[in-house]
Amino acid sequence: MDYSDLFRLDGRRAVVIGAGSGIGREAALALAAHGAAVTAVDRDLPAAKDTASALGAAGSAHELDVLDPDAIDATAGSLGPVDVLVFTPAMNVRKRLLDYTHEDFDRVVGLNLRASFDLIRAFGAPMAQRGTGSIIGFSSIRAVSVEPGQGVYAATKAGLVQLMRTAAAELGASGVRANTISPGVVDTPLTAPIKAQPEWYDAYSAKSALGRWAAPHELAGAVVYLASDASSFVTGSVIAVDGGWTAVDGRFEPPA
Ligand SMILES: NC(=O)c1ccc[n+]([C@@H]2O[C@H](COP(=O)([O-])OP(=O)(O)OC[C@H]3O[C@@H](n4cnc5c(N)ncnc54)[C@H](O)[C@@H]3O)[C@@H](O)[C@H]2O)c1
Repeated sequence: MDYSDLFRLDGRRAVVIGAGSGIGREAALALAAHGAAVTAVDRDLPAAKDTASALGAAGSAHELDVLDPDAIDATAGSLGPVDVLVFTPAMNVRKRLLDYTHEDFDRVVGLNLRASFDLIRAFGAPMAQRGTGSIIGFSSIRAVSVEPGQGVYAATKAGLVQLMRTAAAELGASGVRANTISPGVVDTPLTAPIKAQPEWYDAYSAKSALGRWAAPHELAGAVVYLASDASSFVTGSVIAVDGGWTAVDGRFEPPA
């Protein structure tokens, strides 16, 4: 066994949806750095192009709104054989359950769950036909640990774990793996409203074992691992990249 190439992705084709910002952009950069040809996909085409230009010759850009199921199918059909699918788009409406409207609920579930469902199916089917593929989704610490105002977002992130586990169960015999990464708090546009409130930002820093937020590039290692042969026997799993958030209670440090 030659372990020096364990994480290499030469000759693999990766599609990163949500590559225009935050964790998706860093995932695209890391996959390309390990040899993959990467299509940077986003609703925001200029942002996708910006990421693609940072990838050099290995990069290309594609516009897609994942709220449009027909456009997802067309994209999956047009990009040719895909070895690795990474998808990140998600949103949060931070309101207490009693204040939520059906419109809020439908928007959060529509992007975080239904679009994920559509992506898994559209890319998973041709992967299963070819007998190979790795699907990587993004859950959250909120799948297991909540606070007021996170209810519907948390429910979608727990739901995504179960969708991905089911994809692992149904596609595993066809050689397709499906895994989920569960980040802690990461400094991206998604969390900008929290960063704008110092008390909230500092409380989140203090909660993790490492005592700080993550930078988006700190999620890239897990993506490369799950995309590569280094994780060839890993499917249906949830990898926490949360600075110890879910390991540590954190409310009180006993004098021990
Ligand atoms: N940032 C965090 O602290 C954090 C914590 C836990 C989990 N996560 C999860 O990680 C993932 C990535 O988060 P991020 O912080 O990088 O987000 P982000 O907002 O920085 O990036 C999301 C990207 O998705 C794109 N997008 C949004 N809607 C789209 C649509 N309809 N069609 C196509 N593209 C669309 C956006 O244009 C953007 O480029 C999300 O699933 C999020 O829930 C993030």
